[in-house]
Amino acid sequence: MIAERINRVKESGTMKMKELAGQKKAEGKDIISFTVGEPDFDTPKHIVEAAKKALDEGKTRYLNAAGLPELREAIARSSKTANGIPCDASNVMVAPSKHAIFETIMATVNEGEEVILPNPAWVSYEPATALAGGRAVPVTTKEENEWRVLPEAVAELITPKTKMILLNSPSNPCGSIATKDDIKGIADLAKDHDLVVLSDEVYEKIVFDGHKHYSIAAEPEMFDRTVTISGFSKTYAMTGWRMGWLIAPKPLFKAVNKIQQHSITHVTTFAQYGGLAGLVGSQEPVNAMVNEFKERRDLVMKLIGEIPQLHCDVPKGAFYAFPRYDNPMKSEEMALHLMDKAEVAVTGGAAFGEAGEQHLRISYATSKENIAKGLERLKNALA
Ligand SMILES: Cc1ncc(COP(=O)(O)O)c(C=O)c1O
Repeated sequence: MIAERINRVKESGTMKMKELAGQKKAEGKDIISFTVGEPDFDTPKHIVEAAKKALDEGKTRYLNAAGLPELREAIARSSKTANGIPCDASNVMVAPSKHAIFETIMATVNEGEEVILPNPAWVSYEPATALAGGRAVPVTTKEENEWRVLPEAVAELITPKTKMILLNSPSNPCGSIATKDDIKGIADLAKDHDLVVLSDEVYEKIVFDGHKHYSIAAEPEMFDRTVTISGFSKTYAMTGWRMGWLIAPKPLFKAVNKIQQHSITHVTTFAQYGGLAGLVGSQEPVNAMVNEFKERRDLVMKLIGEIPQLHCDVPKGAFYAFPRYDNPMKSEEMALHLMDKAEVAVTGGAAFGEAGEQHLRISYATSKENIAKGLERLKNALA
């Protein structure tokens, strides 16, 4: 019954640990979970109110596939002002971020073409590439280079079959941030070799310590070959709303639009009014959440510093720490061991690619109390 292409894809390693933690909790175990990549805050009230108002006003009908015109305008405006992306509303498609990534890869990558993507990386890039018939080519990132994607490492992997370079800054699972020079170097490679760039910037607002987020689409002559992805989930604590966006040059936009028209049609109409309120309203709730994430990051780093078996540089953005552990045990086995012995759920680093082996991903999108309790348990179990 099952199509051959499904065999190219494994189940998500992050979902597996999340589900296992849920199962243990249901059995009555007091599991502290550091697995989910999801802010634990409620969606800001004014956003919820705007969506409710839209429902009350009967905003429940079809829209164009690309989304609510006012929302597309607002996304274009903020992407131009904050990130320097030379776009207008006609380049913006409202779509769940994950679907936007999927649509972009489906619309650009032919059978047998290669996509250079970071390793370790978020779990869905490789399956999306495989489902499109492409081949993921991992560019190994290293702790000693702050897990950044270095242009010289990308250059070594480019072949006549390379179609796309996929970037994710700030990154999941490492919390790394691309420097301006990294971005410039990768832009030069894309231009020299006529490649498409897919830049996943969903954590763009969650940056700490004065680090800056750069959009590669803002580099000279890059807009016409770049698709930028961002969204509401992480910035506005709206994961369940399933809403984000992509910004693409016209020919790419048209190609992606066809997939959107024939798949989800568009993002839920009244949800888009909520998103609009988020973008045009006060950004104070976002600042408050980012400050809280920073305090949690500092707490996680302090407590990891007290665990002799864990080693971790300070993550610069997103809400993940990615410590290395001193033990020959494979990371999946280690994660299961910690679930069993410490009642703490983390994700084994290898779920994000080979280069993540001997590491654990700790999502600190949970309360300081949980962080303190969970890391105390990890300390005892690792000792
Ligand atoms: C790097 C990265 N990109 C994209 C997504 C997907 O975001 P959304 O849930 O808004 O589709 C996630 C979610 O965890 C992510 O970590």
